[in-house]
Amino acid sequence: MTVHIGAQPGQIAETVLMPGDPLRAEWAANTFLDNPVCVNRVRGMLGFTGTWQGHPVTIHGSGMGMPSLSIYANELIREYGAKTLIRIGSAGAMQDKVKLRDVILAMTASSLSTPSVGIFRELNFAPCADFELLNAAVASAKAMGAIYHVGGIYSADVFYDERPDLNEIMTRHGILGVEMEAAELYNLAARHGVRALAVLTVSDHLLRHEALPSEDRQSSFGDMVQIALEAAFA
Ligand code: ADE
Repeated sequence: MTVHIGAQPGQIAETVLMPGDPLRAEWAANTFLDNPVCVNRVRGMLGFTGTWQGHPVTIHGSGMGMPSLSIYANELIREYGAKTLIRIGSAGAMQDKVKLRDVILAMTASSLSTPSVGIFRELNFAPCADFELLNAAVASAKAMGAIYHVGGIYSADVFYDERPDLNEIMTRHGILGVEMEAAELYNLAARHGVRALAVLTVSDHLLRHEALPSEDRQSSFGDMVQIALEAAFA
């Protein structure tokens, strides 16, 4: 057990999928895994371990924002030996060509700051996805006929952002979408020599001011889980 995860040693798989929402973790585990067992419910942050096509997999919530993800990812990597961590979540599109329900495979994650600022300080470290995982996710998205985009994303600290100029700068630099967790996941993966990727579904559009109705979110979420699992074991 760690401070925030109640799992016993050996109850967390080396491959961990991380949705922001703990109830999404429960849904994904019940939908995609064989014999899912709840291994964490500390503070309501649910984690489940089961198997997918015979491979052990844990699906564990990250919470919202990089400080929350950083707590869980640190403990999963450092205390439980997680080796492949894939964020599955939503993003707001920042380019016209990216539409609602499209999948974004995040090659890089820019940010204003991350919980790693204490280490990097004045350095502009470039958090990036694991190439093998990214490549495999592209193959999986292609095979399933998903509309997908590969490129940079923006990991924001603030959902209700009062500085629209930042989003505009991101759009001008080709950033595909905004979410709130991936940059720190990529930082931690680099620091600890493990693999990470963020597979995101577009849930809202910052330029078109559109949003997915909530009933559509579950089905597009399922595509992401499938892509993440296929990429992890390619
Ligand atoms: N996740 C999904 N949509 C988002 C948005 N517009 N901003 C930040 N995170 C998001």
